[in-house]
Amino acid sequence: MIQKHKKTSLQWLGIGLLITFLFPVACKKPTEEVAQKKEYTGKGKEIFNNKGCVACHDFSGTDKPTGPSLKGVTKRVSVEWLQKWLKNPDEVKKTDKYAQELDKKFPTSNMVNLGLTDQEINDIIDYLKWMDTEGSVAADFKPLSPEEFERAKKNLF
Ligand code: HEC
Repeated sequence: MIQKHKKTSLQWLGIGLLITFLFPVACKKPTEEVAQKKEYTGKGKEIFNNKGCVACHDFSGTDKPTGPSLKGVTKRVSVEWLQKWLKNPDEVKKTDKYAQELDKKFPTSNMVNLGLTDQEINDIIDYLKWMDTEGSVAADFKPLSPEEFERAKKNLF
């Protein structure tokens, strides 16, 4: 009787193989899902970080004393304007009304000429554009449900 329920070595081998091959497959799934999250794949982000833009700018939507938030910047200004600006901000400030007004808003800081090449400039613009499109979608933003919104309103006001 008992003998009948004992697994043969072949059955044990089968179970062993199942565990060795199926377990990693089962565990792999979540990592694949994480990898599906949008990642910026161009060169612009690295240049942006390495050239020190991050010292004065972020994408929070709130300006810092060091410089304006770059969230939505590609919707405020054109690619041509950005190309001229990143090449030589002081030159643009001489004639451009928008740049002059912006300059006034940051009396303690100035956009610097970082001696970027045309290629670096275009890569940065590519990154800025991405941050204003897929980048902002990729950010973990979950709008409040109408109930949560009502509750938040009651608590705040
Ligand atoms: C020392 C601080 C500083 C650094 C470093 C800096 N910026 Fe700026 N940036 C500013 C300030 C301040 C302004 C606003 C204009 C002014 O006052 O000169 C500005 C303006 C801008 C604007 C226009 C923003 C708008 O709202 O229209 C862009 C785009 C920009 N910077 C991109 C960059 C990039 C890209 C880099 C890196 C290559 C960089 N900045 C490096 C300080 C800085």
